[in-house]
Formats: sequence, C-alpha cells, structure tokens
Amino acid sequence: MPSSGSGEKAVLDLLADVAAYSISQADERYLAFPDTGDSVAAVLATIVGTFLNQNLIAFDRSAPAGSVIEEQVIRWLRDLVGFPPAGPPTLGTLGGMWSSGGNMSNHIAVLVALSTKWPEIRRSGLFGLERRPVLILASGVEHFSYLGAAQALGLGAESLVWAQAGSDFRTDAAALAATLEALPDDVEPFMVVGIAGNCRTTAIDDLSAIADIAKRSGLWFHVDACHGGSLLFSDKLSPALAGIERADSVSLDPHKGLFTPYSCSYALFKNPADLARMARYPDRLADADMLDLGLVTPFYGSRGFESLRLWALIHHLGREGIGALVEARQTTFQELQAVVSSHRSLRMIASSDFYRCAFVFLPVSVRAAAAQALTVEGGAARVAAIVSEYTARCCDLLYRSGQLVFDIFTLRDLNNALGCGSDVRLQVMGMAVGHPGVSDSLSSHIQRMLDAAEEALAAEMNQRLLESSVGNAGAQVALGPAGW
Ligand SMILES: Cc1ncc(COP(=O)(O)O)c(C=O)c1O
Repeated sequence: MPSSGSGEKAVLDLLADVAAYSISQADERYLAFPDTGDSVAAVLATIVGTFLNQNLIAFDRSAPAGSVIEEQVIRWLRDLVGFPPAGPPTLGTLGGMWSSGGNMSNHIAVLVALSTKWPEIRRSGLFGLERRPVLILASGVEHFSYLGAAQALGLGAESLVWAQAGSDFRTDAAALAATLEALPDDVEPFMVVGIAGNCRTTAIDDLSAIADIAKRSGLWFHVDACHGGSLLFSDKLSPALAGIERADSVSLDPHKGLFTPYSCSYALFKNPADLARMARYPDRLADADMLDLGLVTPFYGSRGFESLRLWALIHHLGREGIGALVEARQTTFQELQAVVSSHRSLRMIASSDFYRCAFVFLPVSVRAAAAQALTVEGGAARVAAIVSEYTARCCDLLYRSGQLVFDIFTLRDLNNALGCGSDVRLQVMGMAVGHPGVSDSLSSHIQRMLDAAEEALAAEMNQRLLESSVGNAGAQVALGPAGW
C-alpha cells in the first residue's frame, strides 16, 4: 500500500496501464464468451449510475428513482418471459430481483423453491425434514451453480439427482421422467431444472416437455435462461424457448448475450408471493409506500444502481431493436461456425442452436493415425487424451498470439463424434459469438490462424498418435478458465 498518494496524473497513467493488460471481450477476435458488454447506452448508464451512487437497499434516503427503475425493469422482463403482470408496485408483487450473475440467480431460485415447498425451513432449517430434498437435472450439460447452491444452502451435493442428457446435449425428457420414477423412498424431489442454452454448447432444452413432467409431479420448474434469454427479444427466435412461461422461476443474464456490462442478472418468479416469502418484514409487503428492495432480495445488503444499464439499453433500442441485433448475431454465428466446421484442422463435437459451438483439434493429416490408434486395446482413452492435449495446445497457441481467442473447457462427447465413446470427457475449444456483426476479414483471419496452428502442431500430434498404437500416450486434463 503506497504511504503517500501519487496524484491524479499518475492514477490516470496507472488506469491506462490496467487497461493495457485487460482483455477486450468486445473485440471481434475475442470468441471465448458472448459477453461483449458494449452497448453504448448501457456503458453510459453504468458511468452515470456509478456517479449517482445509489444504494438499492432502500427507497427513502437511498434510491428513490433507482428502486422504481429496477421495479420497471423486472416488470419488463416478466412480460418478456410471459409471466403474468405483477400487481401494483409493492414488495409483495415484485416477482423478481437483480443479482450479480447467473450463478447467484440460480442460488436464489433454489432457495426460493426450497422455501416454497417447506416454508418451515425459514424457522427451523433443514433439520426438521423427514426426507432429503433433491433437485433433478441433466448431467454433462449442467452449470456448476446448482452444485454450488446445494452446497451453500446446506442441502449437500447428494441432493443433486442426475438424469441423462441426450446425444444432442439437451436434457432428455424421457430420461428425466424415468429418473423421477426411480427415486428412492428416502428422498423428496422439489425442483426440476430445464436449460435454455447450456453453458457448453448452448443447446436449448424442450422446455414444454420438461414443464409437463414437472407439473405432473407437482415440482418446481426452474428454467436457466442465462444464455437463451436474449432470444426472447426476437419474435423469430423466441419460439425456441416455448414453455418458459410455464416455469416457476427463470434466471436471465443480460451481461452474457445482451450487450450489457457486468453485473447484470435477474431471478424472476412467476408467483411473486414465493419471492415475497423472503421478506424481512412480512407486514410491509402490501404497503404502497414501501419499495425498499433490500427487504426481499436474499443474499444482498447494500448494492448499486445496476439495473440502470439494462433500462438504458431497452430505452435506446427498444425490444425490436434488440431483437434485430440478436437475429443479426445469429447470422454472424452461423457464418463463423461454417468457417470452423469446414476447416481441415478441426472436428465439430457439438454445433448449436445459437451463439456457441464446440470442436477439437484433429487435422485431416492425423486422422488415419487416430483411426489406427482406436483399433488397439485402450486406444479410445489414448486418442481422447491426445486429442484433448493438442486441442488445449492449439487453443493456447491462438490465445497467446493475442490474435484469436477461443474458450477451452471439458465436454462429454455425448454424440460420440470422436468415436472414443459417449462417456469420454474431452477438452474442447468453444467458439462463442457475441457480436451482431463482424468485419469481412474475420473469416480469413480465423482460417489463417488455424492454418498456422496446424502447421505448428499436426506433425507432432500425428507422431504421438502413431506411438500410442504401441505405448501409453499419457493423459493431461486441464480445465478451462471457467472451470467447466
Ligand atoms: C447456463 C448457465 N447458467 C448460469 C451461469 C452462471 O452465470 P454467471 O457467470 O453470470 O454467474 C452460466 C455461466 O456461464 C451458464 O452458462
């Protein structure tokens, strides 16, 4: 800690230095996450909101305009999802809250679902329950927030019951129903999770089919629309999320695919009374003069005017304008996906409904050696390990060049695209396209970068595959930056 200050000019220089060492997710060559966060209106609102420095914990003496604006944003989002209109603006009819991210929104949804089924938990905790509460979700496509929520809320990891995901990387509704049927007697299900755009391939579940199962079994239906939520702005693309309106809770992440800077996420509840159960002073819920959001926002105390940025974006472009950008991004994604899926050094593992796909480094020149290696005993594991290793190296090479960024993460090859089995976990590169449009030269730039990576790695990889037919190739498993 400096003991004496260095003055304004030095601080400005320091900030410039910080910027120089920061990654621009809005750069068109950044294709790891869709979080461009570059809506001019939303960036401006972030600056203004910071200057205003409102505390959204309370209305009076803290954030009068901020509370009303957040309430309005929640109303708009509820409308977008297809939830019934909230009543007059009181804490009891709010039916949603801002949160710092999808991870937190999912925690809040699990908490509210749990407290709705067993309201006594708020007084006596989980100890009084006769059977272990469990939630059901598909394995292989899940986000870690559900495990995190189970651990943080005292349910424990064993409260997650896994259903099989399909080869299309969606929750398999039939497998989900069978999992529910087969639950042991000592557990009690309370929640089913559907995913509108999973974190690895952005495949969108058949939400109506999952809603049918949840409703038939009297279970809370949560839809994780952190990625897919942006499609709701487009009349053309929103049908992919049909059934979301039947959810009991929905998480949305405008700071992912909606051009909004961090932190911007929302947890919405169809029945506002479910969230209102969290109220610190239940007798104030219907009070028309009371919009102290901090009384019904679990996990949060003081917090800033975060909703201003999404509010400004919506005012700037309107629902139609945002929808047009989301549709344009879809086209851009499809163009860039065609570039990577046709490049001779890559093999697609999962293509997607929208802005993300996953692939491995497997140049045409090594495929004969890979096929040969697969024929020997233990060959599948070795090929998977070598492909994973070179995929990670390719991704790292591109990243360290500073010229092209893909994501790296682990993915079960549910469709057995590599021929090593559908249980095998691979390291894959992910391409996520957040931009509505990119320059014409980006496609050729990507091709050139991939050509160079192939030049650097293919011969060595081929040699490793040839050796693996006779010896142990060794496995290296590294997780990507998001730890998937
Ligand atoms: C499907 C899904 N849900 C939730 C999250 C968590 O979101 P956040 O990183 O905003 O906390 C992610 C993050 O990638 C995700 O992909």
